[in-house]
Amino acid sequence: MSDKTPDAIKPWGGRFSEATDAFVERFTASVTFDKRLYHHDINGSIAHATMLGKVGILSAQEVDAIVGGLEGIREDIVAGRFEWSVQLEDVHMNIESELTRRIGIAGKKLHTGRSRNDQVATDIRLYVRDEIDALVGTLARLQWALLDLAEREAETIMPGFTHLQTAQPITFGHHMMAWYEMLERDHGRLRDCRARLNQSPLGAAALAGTSYPIDREYTARLLGFTAATRNSLDSVSDRDFAIELAAAGSLLMTHLSRFSEELVLWTSSQFDFVDLPDRFCTGSSIMPQKKNPDVPELVRGKTGRVNGHLVALLTLMKSQPLAYNKDNQEDKEPLFDLIDTLRDCLKAYADMVPAIRPKKESLYNAALKGYATATDLADYLVRKGIAFRDAHEIVGKSVAYGIAQKKDLSAMSLQELQQFSSAIEQDVFAVLTLEGSVRARNHVGGTAPEQVRAAVERRREELRARIGV
Ligand code: ARG
Repeated sequence: MSDKTPDAIKPWGGRFSEATDAFVERFTASVTFDKRLYHHDINGSIAHATMLGKVGILSAQEVDAIVGGLEGIREDIVAGRFEWSVQLEDVHMNIESELTRRIGIAGKKLHTGRSRNDQVATDIRLYVRDEIDALVGTLARLQWALLDLAEREAETIMPGFTHLQTAQPITFGHHMMAWYEMLERDHGRLRDCRARLNQSPLGAAALAGTSYPIDREYTARLLGFTAATRNSLDSVSDRDFAIELAAAGSLLMTHLSRFSEELVLWTSSQFDFVDLPDRFCTGSSIMPQKKNPDVPELVRGKTGRVNGHLVALLTLMKSQPLAYNKDNQEDKEPLFDLIDTLRDCLKAYADMVPAIRPKKESLYNAALKGYATATDLADYLVRKGIAFRDAHEIVGKSVAYGIAQKKDLSAMSLQELQQFSSAIEQDVFAVLTLEGSVRARNHVGGTAPEQVRAAVERRREELRARIGV
């Protein structure tokens, strides 16, 4: 049996004749996780109160009392002195009711012309905006580290793969710049998401707007939004920005998972391409020789949870009728976890990338295996007037011979090569070297060291302009 006395603590208790069921109270509360929005909730409330003062709904003294009270609450929360109550359901009602306890009647006026629906929509936009800025900052640190590594290793030769089979020689710097390009697109997606979310829902109130003479553009400006949103129903129900961030985040994690997979392969003794310092690895409790690339492995694994949050958010919004529904409270945990995961994974990479040490000799020797310069020989024959398909056939036969003799193309004598085509002359050896092969791919986007350095320079200028150094 539930208590027949309505719960005096609930700001909405007026129309109720019995207390909330204890389980329902816990089931419907969000304060255990949405308290992390306190900072933005307070900023939103201060902007709202300031606007109410400007349009004459609150007196200057009331606004001062509200702002002072909220700043005091902020200090207490930061200092860990604030007592959150599940009975007060969420971050919004916890802060508002404490404000009223502290400043009295003025606290009860704060919610004039506002609803928790536009309040929470505002809070999460402000929160996501700040988090995107932080993510973009860490992403820039990672991008900067990749540019340095690419520049340092612009001449370092390694095998390039397709189908994970040796394809053509490339430079390590070129490979790092491929990673860079993926991240640069991620940056663009985060920036786009930020630009689209940067509008203020405040004033949409519960769903239809409010009968008070509020100034929505003013609160929007106070909160650093570019404008007020254009439709009150959409304002309180829209969570597109959360989905967009999750989508951008999933793609970013997909990229990090690809880098991770390569690092896991490259640090194995079978590849032996790079060394990761001990501080990014762990050992095995049973096999004394093990040094495991845990950081890349975990990042690869965490891609799953971010993808999961994207699906959770899409499914949360699917078929929701206008306008606000309590379902929307479920946006927070996926959103928070995906932001935490992105932040940690980007930090791990930004810290780790400067410490990646390519093993040059091993990379070079790997590029010597697998007939990586076969395409160069075919191109050479084409330059001597042979049709590409015929050249392909000639080189195929040379490779088959090499496999039988256990000899790379560059290790064959001129006579051996001439068995397959009389067009082959002494100058062939310049194109069969790994250095000659990479140097020849000297156009925008090619692997030649000169092009890698030019790409680093171009990207570094952009990044410099973005981060202001
Ligand atoms: N905790 C709620 C949420 O996160 C705040 C909005 C509640 N609005 C309401 N009408 N019950 O969505």
